[in-house]
Amino acid sequence: MLWTASLCLLWALSIVGAPVNKQRQRVLLISFDGFRWDYDRDVDTPNLDKMAMDGVKALYVTPPYLTITSPTHFTLLTGRYIENHGVIHNMWFNTTTTEKRPYYQTQFVNEWWDNGTLPIWITAQRQGLKAGSLHFPGTASSYQGQVAMVREVEPLLYNYKNETAWRENTDKVMGWFRDQDLDFVSLYFGEPDSTGHKYGPDSPERREMVKQVDRTVGYIRNSAEQHGLTDSLNIIITADHGMSTVYRNGLVEEITLSKIPGFSFRDLSFHLVDFGPSGMLLPKPGKLEKVYSALKGAHPHLHVYKKEEMPERLHFAKNDRILPIILWADPGYVINGYFPVQFHKGEHGFDNQEMDMKPFFRAVGPVFHKNLEVGPFETVNIYPLMCHILGIQPEVNDGHLNATKHMLVTSATAQDVNFLRNVFTGLAAVAGFLVIVFIVMVSHTMIKNKRKNKRPANLKHLPEKENTKQTAF
Ligand SMILES: *[C@@H]1O[C@H](CO)[C@@H](O)[C@H](O)[C@H]1NC(C)=O
Ligand SMILES: *[C@@H]1O[C@H](CO)[C@@H](O)[C@H](O)[C@H]1NC(C)=O
Ligand SMILES: *[C@@H]1O[C@H](CO)[C@@H](O)[C@H](O)[C@H]1NC(C)=O
Ligand SMILES: *[C@@H]1O[C@H](CO)[C@@H](O)[C@H](O)[C@H]1NC(C)=O
Ligand SMILES: [Zn+2]
Repeated sequence: MLWTASLCLLWALSIVGAPVNKQRQRVLLISFDGFRWDYDRDVDTPNLDKMAMDGVKALYVTPPYLTITSPTHFTLLTGRYIENHGVIHNMWFNTTTTEKRPYYQTQFVNEWWDNGTLPIWITAQRQGLKAGSLHFPGTASSYQGQVAMVREVEPLLYNYKNETAWRENTDKVMGWFRDQDLDFVSLYFGEPDSTGHKYGPDSPERREMVKQVDRTVGYIRNSAEQHGLTDSLNIIITADHGMSTVYRNGLVEEITLSKIPGFSFRDLSFHLVDFGPSGMLLPKPGKLEKVYSALKGAHPHLHVYKKEEMPERLHFAKNDRILPIILWADPGYVINGYFPVQFHKGEHGFDNQEMDMKPFFRAVGPVFHKNLEVGPFETVNIYPLMCHILGIQPEVNDGHLNATKHMLVTSATAQDVNFLRNVFTGLAAVAGFLVIVFIVMVSHTMIKNKRKNKRPANLKHLPEKENTKQTAF
């Protein structure tokens, strides 16, 4: 009777066990800062083309507003719009003391990043997975006391464009996957953003940098293969925002706030301008209407909004950190304070509806379709996609799997594998227990019956036990 039951269980386990042997799926999220959706159109990009053949390419993706680096990267890691995750600017600031900290220093201001939303590293780790991050914005901070278990933050004055370092970082991350068995890593490259700012998005320098990115994409895929990760690693490559050409005086009438009649900096207690095309103002008590009506309509390419009147589609209002008056300029323009101090040839930070602000999106790996081009979607949807592939329960977020699930081959997602793993682990525990009971009973009976023989019979059953252990991993 027991014998039959055990056999049945082992048989059942072998059936359930079959799909469990399928590889568990990992995710590498890569951002090439400022890689606009169409940067592959005027440059030869054999490796990006190969990746599209082997995987999925989106026409473009839409970043959240405000289209600047730290806020949009934190959206990639959380699936939340910027007003919901709270990292509303690259710069930490205090309106009381008027202190501001630049991009790099803000990476280390925990309270700025840890404002109630957990990045995917922490969520994955809480659900038993292992996560890492290299140079990705947000890596330096801790979240509810936790950090990515393997992480590297670049030093101040880091050379973000060194291709040799890019290759070393790539191999380092692949080593983390292979040797430390990580499930998720986010990896950041600071280009072609800097080159786009300095020389403009239409420059030969930007095209050269896109070639460097393309070589690196080839290197990344090759390194994954060298590290034996082909069957388990899904690589998503995207960016935080695009880039748009800025025009100077002579070509356009620049926006300089101090020149606007009726506007005075003396009516403000705090301001954030001279930061590309976006700005935020905190008027002194009783001065909001005066500041607002002076600026509204003052320049044909300057948009002026009270926080509560911000267009809903921008999702950039409902947060205490956002200041009462929000400004942004049309492409071609930046917002100057007292006088022009910005000399970049390329900028971002514009309305996320502008095509120049759209990043690229590519994905390749076992869970993705091959040679599939999909339509555009918002980058808030990348987070639920990654959670689905990893088989983890996402936090509350503003994205939906609906927007991306057509990229996936229907059968083999990690969620199924992980679900089956749980079922299987449960069954294996029961089976293991029964097998042990069975062995004990059988050997007890045998020892009793064949005591004269003096040979222990229980050893015979050891292979079955081993078998159970192995498949339960
Ligand atoms: C800003 O600074 C003031 C004065 O030091 C302090 O009371 C306040 O808590 C600070 N606010 C933030 C958000 O750090
Ligand atoms: C987010 O930061 C604001 C200050 O900028 C603070 O008042 C608020 O309590 C923080 N919320 C959380 C959940 O940390
Ligand atoms: C580039 O990185 C490599 C490897 O980290 C380093 O040896 C080299 O000095 C770097 N070159 C520059 C110009 O920063
Ligand atoms: C997702 O798609 C399904 C089927 O098209 C639809 O019924 C559902 O409402 C969608 N959910 C969201 C949140 O868009
Ligand atoms: Zn950026």
